Amino acid sequence: MVSTFHPVESENSGTGYLPNANNTLVTSPNQELLPITAKVNEHDALEIGGCDVPSLVKQFGSPLYILDEETLRTACRQYREAMQRYYPGESQVLYASKAWSCLAVCAIAFSEGLGIDIVSGGELYTALKAGVTPDKLYLHGNNKSVQELKEAISSGCAIVVDNWQELHNLVAIGDSTRIMLRLTPGIECHTHEYIRTGHLDSKFGFDPNQLDEVFAFVSQQECLNCIGLHAHIGSQIFERQPHQDLGGVMVQWIKKAAEYGLKISELNVGGGLGIRYTESDDPPSIDEWVQTICHAVKNACTTENLPLPKLLCEPGRSLVGSACITAYTIGSSKVIPEIRTYIAVDGGMSDNPRPITYQSVYRAAIANKMSAPLTQTVTVAGKHCESGDILIKNATLPPTNPGDILAVMATGAYNYSMASNYNRLPRPAAVLVSNGEANLILQRETYQDLIRFDRLPERLSSQ
Ligand code: LLP
Repeated sequence: MVSTFHPVESENSGTGYLPNANNTLVTSPNQELLPITAKVNEHDALEIGGCDVPSLVKQFGSPLYILDEETLRTACRQYREAMQRYYPGESQVLYASKAWSCLAVCAIAFSEGLGIDIVSGGELYTALKAGVTPDKLYLHGNNKSVQELKEAISSGCAIVVDNWQELHNLVAIGDSTRIMLRLTPGIECHTHEYIRTGHLDSKFGFDPNQLDEVFAFVSQQECLNCIGLHAHIGSQIFERQPHQDLGGVMVQWIKKAAEYGLKISELNVGGGLGIRYTESDDPPSIDEWVQTICHAVKNACTTENLPLPKLLCEPGRSLVGSACITAYTIGSSKVIPEIRTYIAVDGGMSDNPRPITYQSVYRAAIANKMSAPLTQTVTVAGKHCESGDILIKNATLPPTNPGDILAVMATGAYNYSMASNYNRLPRPAAVLVSNGEANLILQRETYQDLIRFDRLPERLSSQ
């Protein structure tokens, strides 16, 4: 993909965040702070997908998630094309829909040839309603309910079995089921402790010390058609070594499974590629990450003289994360001399719980004055009744006024999907932008929505 160049007008203005600031020809969306269509227009305003961000806020209100279709589609294509380029066998990319599960995102990923990784009956329902076919759906989860298992089986999707209880539940259900086994690879990686899953002390997957027992059990169950093995080592990972190691470890598992007569035809290496949230984040490109995985699996299979399994991966963050910004309207501010200046926006931890949960750091620009010099350091606070509700500590911004539009970058992953109604804030709307057109993909919640599930016992209703 050749994208246009965007000049960096000044290191010291909001335009320095534009994609392709390093003038590379091929943009990997996960290496950009802003969606790949981001521009500054003649009104000195940020434009995404050909749409002027302040005008979108006028039309749809704020906070507003603004999702750029071209960035999302480009990331999907880069994954798919890289798998085809570097892996001689069959392959399938899945979108880990936990990053942002909604009809439009699932439909776009599916239309780009991706399957969908789901982790609950709700995500299954969403993907099916988005038109995803069950042959491309894989259900994960460390505590799937019997009802979720039955829903998955009757829909025809594959089940990634996580533990003994689930195996026993599936045998008790007794229906013929395509399964994969999730195993814990015992691989450490450097990411936040809450989003690390590959180390041995993880709640996910079978303990690798029990491989023999698990394979022996599964091989004896008529109803279980074990097509593959799965592992996921964590999220927001910048190193390539852990995934290289993972390929080797998983191929050893295929060999071991064969000792029990299990023919493993699919290998799913999970997701985890990191994205750029700040200038100092330096993740590998999608192409580099896929290359690492493909080489690792291919080389290990050659060494072991095994046929190449169908290779699957299931990224979430690196597909959707960099494709979205959140636009807020700036309201009050508070100057504490010699300590700090707070500026407050009309959302916060309810639409982006990542800073308070993982101490995640974000970058922002003022969307209605993009080339204004960045002369102040302020702390961007949310509007929740919670001191920790800080979106960005020490943000470098131009002087701001109430009514200015703050665009927080790279909010596509794990923002909407983890949003809440804390303090009874209605969840924001989301628009999909493309070629100058904006389509609502998630309606803003209303006050009526907030009390939709409230029930007032009769004895209280007259009070
Ligand atoms: N596959 C499995 C089995 C996973 O558990 C995950 C993420 C993925 C794939 C996708 O990983 P990704 O490519 O997005 O890194 N809420 C946290 C992230 C939790 C990740 C959970 N699992 C955050 O906001 O950082």
